[in-house]
Amino acid sequence: GIKVVTIGGGSSYTPELVEGFIKRYNELPIKELWLVDIPEGKEKLETVGALAKRMVKKAGVPMEVKLSYDRKEALPGADFVTTQIRVGLLEARAKDEKIPLNYDVIGQETNGPGGLFKGLRTIPVILDICKDIETLCPNAWLINFSNPAGMVTEAVLRYSNITKTVGLCNVPIGMRMSVAEMLEVEPDRVHIDFAGLNHMVFGLRVYLDGEEVTGQVLDKLTSGESMTMKNIVDLGWEPEFIQALQILPCPYHRYYYQTDKMLAQEKKEANEAGSRAEVVQQLEKELFELYSDPELAIKPPQLEERGGAYYSDAACSLIDSIYNNRGDIQPVNTRNNGAIAGIPAESAVEVNCVITKDGPKPIHVGELPVPVQGLVQQIKSFERTAAEAAVTGDYNTALLALAINPLVPSDTVAKQILDEMLEAHKAYLPQF
Ligand code: G6P
Ligand code: MN
Ligand code: MN
Repeated sequence: GIKVVTIGGGSSYTPELVEGFIKRYNELPIKELWLVDIPEGKEKLETVGALAKRMVKKAGVPMEVKLSYDRKEALPGADFVTTQIRVGLLEARAKDEKIPLNYDVIGQETNGPGGLFKGLRTIPVILDICKDIETLCPNAWLINFSNPAGMVTEAVLRYSNITKTVGLCNVPIGMRMSVAEMLEVEPDRVHIDFAGLNHMVFGLRVYLDGEEVTGQVLDKLTSGESMTMKNIVDLGWEPEFIQALQILPCPYHRYYYQTDKMLAQEKKEANEAGSRAEVVQQLEKELFELYSDPELAIKPPQLEERGGAYYSDAACSLIDSIYNNRGDIQPVNTRNNGAIAGIPAESAVEVNCVITKDGPKPIHVGELPVPVQGLVQQIKSFERTAAEAAVTGDYNTALLALAINPLVPSDTVAKQILDEMLEAHKAYLPQF
């Protein structure tokens, strides 16, 4: 039987994962699912854990759900370790989103200053988890959903001894769902050649039943049809820009190609509904009220209001393909190994891979189109520098990371934001 350990198990997203495992039980017989969280998260873990147990019971699958506040107790014998942690909780995310706005800079949990600080808080914790995996379950796969997933994967590849690791995001599956909706077809008929970085991924070509339909999809995208996630507002693209680009951007690209409009929108939202973290805090409250209902034994549809909707499909398909050696194609974050030209072999990229029992094998891409090559490389430089800052706790390296980020206008503004955010987050940045 398979043993899965989910660190950050008290997350409101856990029912997604449990539902995914239940659906696939016949091909992916998980005997034990351990949900691990920190003692401060006791109330959430107990609520989600009880719901997970009811879901499993109702579905009639013999999967045992266990709760733990000590990952060292949970890890031994694990086949798969999934991480979905949020260091500093949503309060820290709210700071990541709000502080940059005071400097007229995008406030976003995985991009710009917010992305840097989420990385600085998260990477040391993930690297500690890596050390425990190394000693307690050295054969396990580490599957990370914790954001910023690209930067975290970069750090695991460069600064840990773990090689069996994959970073996961629901953006590619979300784009495939959106394209299927645009074309009014079932999602499994749509294939997209994905390449780039996490939250910086492009659909280079789109196929329907094996026939290329990229042009048709770009036409739809520029004639008012929406492609986004619940956490990113869609302000529409300039049609001529998308037609010239010739490839499909991901929803997060709006922060780079529509920076002024997105900034104005963020400021407006911060004054009205509050930052996304504050909206999510409210959503979480409602979700946990639902989860507490002893009659509830399914994943409530309200969870789809979160940006991470469908992430369980990505996660469970990946684990299933590794376990069953399927050899199918999935977009994941993995070691580049020469797949994308101009990105170091040992860096993390988000790219279509063939998934076997040995993990993801990236499919060769070669050069990215000239108009996007530079941005992708620049974000990779940012991620690498940020990961180095997270590990060393070096102030100048953190400043360098922020100053080279394309969303930050100058070295001086970078320093001002850095200083304010280091102070605001100091409880979660012991390395500085
Ligand atoms: C997207 C991203 C995730 C991110 C989520 C935020 O789906 O791929 O990496 O965590 O949005 O959603 P939220 O509901 O927390 O704003
Ligand atoms: Mn086993
Ligand atoms: Mn993501």
